[in-house]
Amino acid sequence: MTTNVNKALLLAALASVAAGAMAQDGDVARRVEDLMRRMTLEEKVGQLHQLSGRQMTGPGSEKFADKLADIRAGRVGSMLNVKGVAETREIQALALQSRLKIPLLFSLDVIHGYRTVFPVPLGEAASWDLDAIRESARVAAREAAASGIHWTFAPMVDIGRDPRWGRVMEGAGEDTYLGSQIAVARVQGFQGPKLGALDRVMATAKHFAGYGAAIAGRDYNAVDMSEQQLHEVYLPPFKAAADAGVATFMNAFNTLNGVPATASAVLQRDILKGQWGYRGFVVSDWASIKELVEHGHAADLSEAARQAIEAGSDMDMEGYAYSRHLAALVAGGKVKQSVLDDAVRRVLTKKFEMGLFDDPYRFSDAARERAVLADPSHARIARDVARKSLVLLKNEGQALPFAKDVGSLAVIGPLADARRDLEGGWIVQSDPQRVVSILDGIRGQVAPGMRLVVAKGCDVACTDTSGFAEAVAAAGRADAVLLVVGESWDMSGEAKSRADLGLPGRQAALFDALAATGKPVVVVILAGRPLVFNGVADRAAAILYAWFPGAQGGNAVADVLFGDYNPSGKLPMTFPRSVGQVPISYQQYRTGRPVVNAANVVYRSAYIDSPNTPRYAFGHGLSYTTFAYSDLVLSEPVMGQGDKVEVSFTLANTGRRAGEEVAQLYIRDRVSSIVRPLMELKGFRKLKLEPGERRTVRFVIDRDTLAFTDGKLRRVAEPGEFDLMIGSASDAIRLRGTLTLRD
Ligand code: BGC
Repeated sequence: MTTNVNKALLLAALASVAAGAMAQDGDVARRVEDLMRRMTLEEKVGQLHQLSGRQMTGPGSEKFADKLADIRAGRVGSMLNVKGVAETREIQALALQSRLKIPLLFSLDVIHGYRTVFPVPLGEAASWDLDAIRESARVAAREAAASGIHWTFAPMVDIGRDPRWGRVMEGAGEDTYLGSQIAVARVQGFQGPKLGALDRVMATAKHFAGYGAAIAGRDYNAVDMSEQQLHEVYLPPFKAAADAGVATFMNAFNTLNGVPATASAVLQRDILKGQWGYRGFVVSDWASIKELVEHGHAADLSEAARQAIEAGSDMDMEGYAYSRHLAALVAGGKVKQSVLDDAVRRVLTKKFEMGLFDDPYRFSDAARERAVLADPSHARIARDVARKSLVLLKNEGQALPFAKDVGSLAVIGPLADARRDLEGGWIVQSDPQRVVSILDGIRGQVAPGMRLVVAKGCDVACTDTSGFAEAVAAAGRADAVLLVVGESWDMSGEAKSRADLGLPGRQAALFDALAATGKPVVVVILAGRPLVFNGVADRAAAILYAWFPGAQGGNAVADVLFGDYNPSGKLPMTFPRSVGQVPISYQQYRTGRPVVNAANVVYRSAYIDSPNTPRYAFGHGLSYTTFAYSDLVLSEPVMGQGDKVEVSFTLANTGRRAGEEVAQLYIRDRVSSIVRPLMELKGFRKLKLEPGERRTVRFVIDRDTLAFTDGKLRRVAEPGEFDLMIGSASDAIRLRGTLTLRD
C-alpha cells in the first residue's frame, strides 16, 4: 500500500513539475478521490481534527506524548499555534510517519502582521486605502509563509457597531460596503491570485455569522436580529470574501436567533455552501463545537459532533468532539458517510491546492525564513500603512503640525514611551526590539537643540494623581504640549468588552490638569475601539486618533505631528458621545418622529439628556489642507434597471499642502418596501492632490448600487427617487443630487 502511495505521489509530483505549476483543479479532484478511496474511517475523521500546540518539540515534549502519537497515527489534520521553520518541520515529519503520509496544515492568527506588526485591522480600515490594506496582508503572509505557516485565521469581516465589543479592533468597522471592500483586499493580500504560492497563505473569513452584534456588546453573547438585517448588513462582507476565493471560513461562538452558529445548517449549508456555492471548508471557532453543550443545544459531546458536522462545520478546532465521536456516529449510521466525505474532501482539496502533497515542507525553508524576516522593506511598508491609519479628529487654530524648530516640547502621558501597547492584541511573532515608541519617533524627527520634557503623569489604569504635579510642571516649562493617552494593548480584542468607554484610570483628569494650565494641549489617543472622551474633545487643541498603530507607530505618529505626512485617515466607526448611544452607526433609520428641530425634541425620537448625533461621525477625518467639492454632474437623471449612470464632480485641493482626500458617495432611497437608512455608503475614492490641483472624480451607479434586501430576502432595486450625497464625511455632505430609477 505504502509503495503504491509513494508511486502515486511521485507520479503526481512529476506531472506537476512537467506542467510547471501547482496541481490544476481537475487534477486535484482526481487526486483527492484517489486518496479518499484509500482512507479508513478513522483517517478521514483525523483530517477534521485540529489541535493546538505550542512548543511541542524539544525538551519537555513528553507531556505532549498523546498529541504527538495522534499526529503520527494520522489522527490530526491540522495544527494551530505551531510556528517557525524548525518547529513546523519537526511536527510535519511526524505526520509523514502516518500510513498515508497526509501532511498537516499549519494555521495561526496572523491578524495584523507576523514579525512586522502593522496597525490593528480597525486602524488599517481607517486608511480607506485598499492598496495599503492589501499590501499589509501581503507582507504578513510573506513572513508567515516563510515561517512554515499555511493558513491564517484572518480577515475578521464581522460588522461592528458597538464599541463596547472589544473585537471591533479586529474588523473593518461598522459599514457593510467599506467592510466588503476591505474583506476582498485582505483576502487578496493574504492569498494572492492562486493558492499555493510560497509567499502567501490561505485566508479565513470569520466569524460566520453575526458575531459582531452580541447583545449588550458582551463578547460571546447571544445575537438576535431579523433575517433581513443579517442578509443586508452582516453577510455581504462574507459573500465578498467567498467571491474573492477565500480558502476557508470560520464559524462563530454566538447563537444567532437561538441557534449556535456552529450548529446552523441555515448559515453553513443553505447559505454558504448552497446559495453561494462555496467550495472551501469551514473550521469551527476554538472549541465552539464542544460549546454546543454549554449553549444547551446539544445534550452531550457526541450530539454536538453530530449537529456540527451535519450543519456544515468541517473541521473541529480544539473541541475533541469529532476526534472522540465522529467515527462512531458514522459507523452507527447516525451521520451519513457522504456528510463526512464532503468535509474531508474539502480539507484535502486545500492541502493539494497548497502543494503540500508535492512537498510537505515547501513552506519550511530556514534560509527563506531568515531572509524574509529580515527584509527591511517590511518596516517601511508598516510605517506607510500606519501613517495612513491615523485620523486627525480635531485641529483648532492649526495646532498641528508642530514646527520642527519649536523650542521645547513636553511629552506627557502613560503611553508616550509605550512599546508593547503600540502593537495591540494578536501578536504572534513580533520582535519587541523593533517597536518604535512615540517618544522614539519624536526624538528621530525634532531639530537638534530642541528640548524634550518628558513626564508620565500616571499609568494607563492609574487610580492616583501623584504624578500629575510633575506633568503640569513639565507642561509649564514647554512651548508646546503633547499628551499621549488611551487603552493599553490588552483592553481591546477578544474577551475585552467594556461597559465604560472612557479613557481608563485617571487619564481624563490628567488631561484636565494640563488643560487648566491654559496651554494648548495636543492629544494622541491609542485604542482598539472608539472611546468616549468629551472633555478632551471639547478642550484639546488637536486630537490624533492613532488606534494601535503597530511597530512603526511611533515614527508614523511623529510623521504626522511634525507635518512630514499629511493625515488622510477617516473613521470607519462612529464615535459616540456616551455609552448610552450604542449600538450606533451613521446608518440611522428613518422614524415616524424624526428630530426636526434640535430645540424641540418632545415626543420625537431623541434623548432628553444627549443629542442624537455622535461625537465624531463615520467618515470624519481632517487634513492639514482643505478640499473643495463642486460641479456635480449626472450623466442621466433617470435610469432603467439595466442602465448605468455616471456621477462626476470636481475635487480641488484649496490649501497649501499636498494631501489625500477620501471622497465618499452616499445614497438614500426615499420610499421603499423596507424602510432604508438615511444614508448608505456606496462608493469612495482616495485621491492625492497637490496644492491648487483639481480633479474630476467619477462614480458609476447601477442597479446593484440601488438594490437592497427586501422582506422576502430578495435583492431588489425598487423604482423611485434616490438622493445622492457626496462629501468628505457622513456629516459633511458637500454635493447633493437626485436620481430616478424607472420601472
Ligand atoms: C477566536 C478566533 C481565533 C481562534 C484561534 C478564538 O478564540 O475567536 O478568532 O482564530 O481563537 O486562536
